[in-house]
Amino acid sequence: MDNYNNLIDMNDYTVPQWLEIIELAEKIKASPAEYSEKCRGKIMATLFYEPSTRTQMSFQAAMLRLGGSLIGFDNPSNSSVAKGENLKDTIKIVSTYSDILVMRHTQEGSAKAAALCADCHVINAGDGGHLHPTQTLTDLLTLKCELGRLDNLKIGLCGDLKYGRTVHSLVKALSCFPNNKFVLISTPALALPGYIKDVLKGRGAEFTEVNTIDEAIRDLDMLYMTRIQRERFDSDEEYLRQRDVYCLTKAKMEYARRDMIVMHPLPRVNEIEVAVDDDPRAAYFRQANNGMYVRMALILYTLTRQPKVRPLLTGEIHNDVECTNPKCVTRTEKYLPHSYINHGGILTCEYCDERILL
Ligand code: NCD
Repeated sequence: MDNYNNLIDMNDYTVPQWLEIIELAEKIKASPAEYSEKCRGKIMATLFYEPSTRTQMSFQAAMLRLGGSLIGFDNPSNSSVAKGENLKDTIKIVSTYSDILVMRHTQEGSAKAAALCADCHVINAGDGGHLHPTQTLTDLLTLKCELGRLDNLKIGLCGDLKYGRTVHSLVKALSCFPNNKFVLISTPALALPGYIKDVLKGRGAEFTEVNTIDEAIRDLDMLYMTRIQRERFDSDEEYLRQRDVYCLTKAKMEYARRDMIVMHPLPRVNEIEVAVDDDPRAAYFRQANNGMYVRMALILYTLTRQPKVRPLLTGEIHNDVECTNPKCVTRTEKYLPHSYINHGGILTCEYCDERILL
């Protein structure tokens, strides 16, 4: 049973709750000084098993701006992880030292695994190529600030839609709002995973798939550019085949609407020409700044809201069935119960969403 306010996936909260967090972020952004003592005496742990600039520092800055304190690591080789400690033991201990634990990890489903053994609230700051809900809150706040709405949008998503966890969480969230349409711009090798497309189909959200930016850019409200996720490819040759396929240039921006905005979770590699930065439609640096305010709101919300007691795993336990995703957390953290949602003989891993045909 779970009696914490965990944020593992956007669906841990309802749409009205997302809007509550975003409205709180807007209030904090307007008058940050009013919130500077709200988390005095509270401790946040940031455990980053993967590199990060924005997510980690914006979380840390957010907690400090709320008057709270920090512990944690940004390089697991400086912790007992280097001595072979498993995820469970690290989380079990650190969560007793802190009030809220923010974790980024290389493995898919690791955030849920952490929540299963934590004695405090857990926030997923990215679990491998799977999900990144706090980037999505940042993106929703940015859309609200820049375009004034979260519905009736035509959204282009470009680049690594396969491994880009920010895209997965964002598509799942934006498809909850009425009349949003999606244009998926990728090579066939980096297409959006089937389980996310099924979410779009299930919600009746319109989407098309194209290969080039030129085919899509003319009538978009927002273009979401992403980096090709080099570290998630099985081989460097495969990455080299996909690298530099997409680049948003000043010349391409000529074809976009005057009120379109460009977003990017950052870091940028080559997919947006630096000259685009001076275009007022380039919203990515404003987006990164919003990340700090939305995380202040999320921390405050998490620490002050009465938790709803509910089970973290709701599926069937099949410990004899190994998840077929080699990046699933259950492959290395052997003590985890193998829990699957069973839809007519197709098992979906409750950690990483991999589907297994029995
Ligand atoms: C993203 C991430 O880590 O998934 N960055 C971020 O959190 N702002 C995107 C990326 O690394 O490409």
